[in-house]
Amino acid sequence: MRIAILPTGREASAAVAQIIAGAVRARPGLVIGLPTGRTPVRVYEELIALHARRRIDFRRVTTFNLDEFAGLTRRDPRSYHAFMRRHFFDHIQHDPARRFILNGAARDWRREVRRFERALLRAGGLDLCFVGIGRNGHLGFNEPGAALTARTHRARLQPESRRSNAYLFGGNWRKVPADALSMGMGTILSARAVILLATGKSKASVVRRALSGPITTWLPASLLQLHPDVLVVLDREAAGAIRRTARR
Ligand code: GLP
Repeated sequence: MRIAILPTGREASAAVAQIIAGAVRARPGLVIGLPTGRTPVRVYEELIALHARRRIDFRRVTTFNLDEFAGLTRRDPRSYHAFMRRHFFDHIQHDPARRFILNGAARDWRREVRRFERALLRAGGLDLCFVGIGRNGHLGFNEPGAALTARTHRARLQPESRRSNAYLFGGNWRKVPADALSMGMGTILSARAVILLATGKSKASVVRRALSGPITTWLPASLLQLHPDVLVVLDREAAGAIRRTARR
């Protein structure tokens, strides 16, 4: 696991955008996993700016989003579908046929998660999975618990995850759906490379536990320690609790 610490969130986000741009330049047909949340917004802004300057071409890139709220249609402004359009897809040239986001409103979620996994297999798997981290250690919506689910599935959200998404629901966490569809931990760990971005003081404790604590299903991000190609990009605040010995 490689760890890069940049002074500010802006610089950490710019570094992640540069890495993604480099990966797309090296492999124009890159298959990439994408997160939502407040953390990646600045990365998307940077990517949009690079795209405007013709430094990156997304036309052959295939994207798979990590998760979506159960019960929300793609047109619902609170959905991750809408989030991705607002913050990224509406601002770049990208083929919607190369864009996969779970349909939270699918009548049969089991079919929907199978469809998603099949599409991912057909695309050849994820070359790179870009993830954020929840304050409870979740990746996507793989919530802490006694067991994790390997593949894409329906997940029950913990109150903390609902609270951290309340900003999309007028600040009322009770309005955040109780369930979501999420890529599984095995799906994320099958990516050839993973890049985790965490910024801000509120992530310092979970980052320390994920990177240097025991590997446990009670902290899903700790499983990244098992992956052979993970880059963790942090700002100084998110890195604040890592012991010096863990930095290399
Ligand atoms: C959301 C998403 C996660 C994301 C996390 C952190 O619940 N499902 O994929 O990593 O929360 O969000 P933020 O970046 O807003 O802290």
